[in-house]
Amino acid sequence: MDVDTGIDDAVALLLVRSVLGEGLRMVSAVSGNVPVERALENTRRVLHLSGADEVPVFRGASAPLVAEPMAALWVHGEDGLGGVELEPSPAPPAGGLDELRAALEREPAPVALLATAPLTNAALLARWDPRLFARRVERIVWMGGSWGRGNDTPAAEFNARVDPEAVHIVAGSGVPMTMVGLNATEGCPLDDGDMERIGAVATRSARLVATMLGYEGLRRVNRDFGGVVVHDAIAAATLLWPGEVTATRRYPLTVDLSHGPSYGATLTGPVATGPEVEVAVAADRVRFAQRLASALARLP
Ligand code: BDR
Ligand code: CA
Repeated sequence: MDVDTGIDDAVALLLVRSVLGEGLRMVSAVSGNVPVERALENTRRVLHLSGADEVPVFRGASAPLVAEPMAALWVHGEDGLGGVELEPSPAPPAGGLDELRAALEREPAPVALLATAPLTNAALLARWDPRLFARRVERIVWMGGSWGRGNDTPAAEFNARVDPEAVHIVAGSGVPMTMVGLNATEGCPLDDGDMERIGAVATRSARLVATMLGYEGLRRVNRDFGGVVVHDAIAAATLLWPGEVTATRRYPLTVDLSHGPSYGATLTGPVATGPEVEVAVAADRVRFAQRLASALARLP
């Protein structure tokens, strides 16, 4: 996984760990919701809580390829996790992108990459060694973008807006890509009943999720949705259960690189141009909420 942990990244990490167990091979952190050091630390702590200290967490890029870094502290809180207190992980540091690259080389088979953050790390790897990237990464599921509107600017979704050049590079890398954008995620908010079901699960992972999803900054940005949208966990569900939680269509994708008001807008749909990707167009809230609650029940 590639993350900028972030409340919904934390939920995605827990969901993937629960379903895949040791199949969660490695994680890289990147600057996005919070600066990279904070994203790294948050990721390590969330994995520690879920009993996954053996999963290496690599330190990725501290800034987008071209744009200035920008955070989303008003959504996720100063610490990125809505102020929850988590124990530090005793695991040794895993290193940076050099070590990530070496770990990818050592994998016995190509990996699927779930990216719930700006695509800077993936773009750096793709540029650095395109053949390694194409050989070792069999597909990418990315939470980002949208078909038609944004949540960071009127035109652009946050992960796309933070590093539009990276989206351009990764979408053109030749690796099959699924874009799970706002069209799918915003239609799939967890409502009060879902939150109660998660709150009733007696594991510390479920308690963490219930507490984070109650964070007032997150509630504020979700006030128009009738619940809390857990964007990154819906991308995780798309990877874990293809075709069961999210419906996709195959469309071309271009990203606006103009550095104007639409910078970072993802242009997709039947009349778009660019490399073809799978675009998530809808998600099933009931299936998503049930699967998340049972996944949290299976973790510590
Ligand atoms: C995306 O932006 C971030 O704030 C979330 O973690 C998610 O990855 C939603 O637009
Ligand atoms: Ca994220």
